[in-house]
Amino acid sequence: MRKIEIYEVGPRDGFQNVSDYIPLETKKKIIEGLLTSGVRHMQITSFVSPKAIPQMKDAKELTEYIVDKYPDADLLALVPNLRGAQGAWDAGLKSVSYVVSLGESHNKANIRRTHEESLVELLKIREALPELDICLDLATTFGCPFEGKKNADDVVPFIKPYIDAGLKTVNLCDTIGVANPAQVRDIIDAVRVEYSGLELQVHIHDTRNMGMVNTLAAIEKGVDKVQSTLGGLGGCPFAPGASGNLATEDLAYMLNEMGYETGIEIPAMVELAKFQAGEIPAGQFSGHIYTIQDRNQEEE
Ligand code: COA
Ligand code: ZN
Repeated sequence: MRKIEIYEVGPRDGFQNVSDYIPLETKKKIIEGLLTSGVRHMQITSFVSPKAIPQMKDAKELTEYIVDKYPDADLLALVPNLRGAQGAWDAGLKSVSYVVSLGESHNKANIRRTHEESLVELLKIREALPELDICLDLATTFGCPFEGKKNADDVVPFIKPYIDAGLKTVNLCDTIGVANPAQVRDIIDAVRVEYSGLELQVHIHDTRNMGMVNTLAAIEKGVDKVQSTLGGLGGCPFAPGASGNLATEDLAYMLNEMGYETGIEIPAMVELAKFQAGEIPAGQFSGHIYTIQDRNQEEE
C-alpha cells in the first residue's frame, strides 16, 4: 500500500487568517486533537512579526509546549527571516518552512523583501543554523495575485540557488488556488528533470474547488507529501482573493478510500473539524463547515 504523508498546516495557514485571537488553550486542543487523529507532520505556527500577523504572538509558548509533549511528531513552523528561524530553533523545532513567493510583488507584500533579499536572508539562516532542516515554501508557484499565471519556466530557474544552498525539499504552493492539473503535472515534470533528487510537496488552496484534483495530480506524479488543513481553513492575509485550503478530512477520506495509507482516522478528524468551526468567530471561518461524513449522515 503506498503511503501518503499528509502535512497538516491549519494551525499556521488557517489560524493566520483569523483576525480575532484564538486562545492558546484552544490552539493546543486543536493541535493535540490532530496528533491523536493520526497526523504525523504539522506546521504548528509561524515565527513572524506580531505586527504582520498578531495571531502568531504565542508561537514560542505554543511550540515549547507541543515539542515537549510530542517529541516524536514531525513539527515545523513557517519563518520569513533569520529571527524567525532562530526563534523556532530555540523553541525546540528541528525543521522550518522558509517562505518566499515566486511572484516578487507578492513577496514584497507578504514579507517586504525583494527576491534577492529573500535569498540573502536564507543564506544567513544556513550559516547561523546549519543543522536546521529547511523546506522552501514557494508561495504563488502557480499564479500570483498581482502578476498572473506562473509556469515551469518561472519555477525551475528560481529554485536553483535554494537547492545550491543545500535545501532538499521544495513545497509548491498554490497560494490563491489558481492551479490546474495539467499545470501541476508540467511543473512537477520540469522540476524533476532538472533536479532529480529534490523532494517535492504540494500545498493547494481550494478557492475554485480544484484543491482535490490538483493534489491528486501531484500524487499521481509520485509526490507523496501533500499539505492540507483541518476543516479547509486557510488563506493569506497579503494575497487578495486567497481562500481556504483543501480540507484534510476530505483529502484523507479520498486517499483512504482509494487504498492509500494516510494513518488519518476520519471520524476523529470530522469531530475535530466541527469543534474548530465552533471556536472560530462567525464570519472569520474561510473553510468547509460540512465535511463528506456530515453530508453522508444528513443524506441517511
Ligand atoms: N518574529 C518576531 N518579530 C519579528 C520577526 C520575527 N520573525 N521579524 C521581525 N520582527 C519584528 C522586528 O523586531 C520589528 O519589531 P519592532 O518594530 O518592534 O522593532 C518588526 O517586527 C518589523 O521588523 P522588520 O525587520 O523591519 O520587518 P518588516 O517590517 O520589513 O517585515 C517581516 C518583514 C518578514 C518580519 C514581516 O513582514 C513578517 O513577519 N511577515 C510574515 C507574513 C506572513 O506570515 N504571511 C503569511 C504566511 S505566507
Ligand atoms: Zn497557503
